[in-house]
Amino acid sequence: MKHTGFLLSLVACGAVVVASPAAAQAGHAYAGAKTCGMCHKTEKQGSQLSIWEGSKHSKAYTTLTTPAANDIAKAKGITTPAAEAPACLKCHAIAGDAKALVTDGVQCESCHGPGADYKGLTVMKTKATAIAAGLTAFADKAAIEAKCKTCHNSDSPTAKPFNFEERWEKIKHPVPPKTP
Ligand code: HEC
Ligand code: HEC
Ligand code: HEC
Ligand code: HEC
Repeated sequence: MKHTGFLLSLVACGAVVVASPAAAQAGHAYAGAKTCGMCHKTEKQGSQLSIWEGSKHSKAYTTLTTPAANDIAKAKGITTPAAEAPACLKCHAIAGDAKALVTDGVQCESCHGPGADYKGLTVMKTKATAIAAGLTAFADKAAIEAKCKTCHNSDSPTAKPFNFEERWEKIKHPVPPKTP
């Protein structure tokens, strides 16, 4: 496969990270879901950590370690285990320069952008400074849906139809309105 060959040659150079839908913003490092969860876990904050932990996104790497995943990879001519294949990892984890975080699967920063530079409280509290430090801004619903479809698309060997409204209901994690 042409695309895979390209990725492998990049890896062989030792120079670059694996191209991934989550690695769109170069120049910032990843912090990991546990770090984000330190401030986004209480009910008052919106329980983002436990909502994510309860979602399939948190299991996306584990899925690649199953025999079923290896069979899918093999059928595509991939010679490594699925959990090591850039062609699978690009949608199932943050790969590349964030190797230590690969087991987080599809985590906060897969959607919100690499957070090492915006995770500090003073930066994070103000949306504009967070965006300047790497937080992804979503202009509207269409922009959110477009983000989902960087992975939920027909490049996935097990692709299912993607209805944004239904899927969003399963993973949404809003900050509750502040009560005075
Ligand atoms: C030190 C505490 C802290 C850490 C660590 C932290 N955040 Fe936040 N974050 C906040 C606070 C405070 C807000 C303001 C909203 C609120 O009250 O929950 C916020 C807001 C946000 C928002 C909403 C931004 C907006 O205004 O629309 C997102 C998205 C977010 N954080 C994601 C993350 C991600 C992803 C990480 C990990 C890379 C992270 N946060 C790490 C404290 C933190
Ligand atoms: C970085 C890639 C990526 C992005 C971005 C992404 N997803 Fe996923 N999503 C996955 C993978 C991979 C799985 C399968 C995980 C598994 O089963 O191991 C999945 C599974 C899901 C599931 C569980 C299947 C189900 O229907 O119960 C839902 C719901 C979902 N995604 C919703 C969304 C929504 C909504 C967005 C956008 C806000 C989104 N995803 C963005 C990769 C992604
Ligand atoms: C373009 C992104 C993308 C790529 C590339 C990708 N996946 Fe997935 N994968 C997904 C999404 C999204 C889901 C969740 C399915 C859904 O709910 O639509 C998923 C689900 C799965 C599942 C769970 C099966 C199921 O029906 O829920 C397995 C197993 C899997 N992928 C294996 C692989 C393997 C092996 C590779 C590499 C050969 C791979 N994937 C490459 C996006 C991707
Ligand atoms: C599959 C993509 C995806 C994942 C994974 C994800 N988020 Fe989000 N998150 C979103 C989207 C999309 C929004 C809505 C943004 C908007 O409305 O502008 C959002 C909203 C938020 C908000 C703001 C909510 C509000 O009401 O203002 C916070 C805080 C947040 N996420 C934190 C997290 C944390 C922490 C994690 C990991 C534990 C996480 N998110 C995982 C996509 C994701």
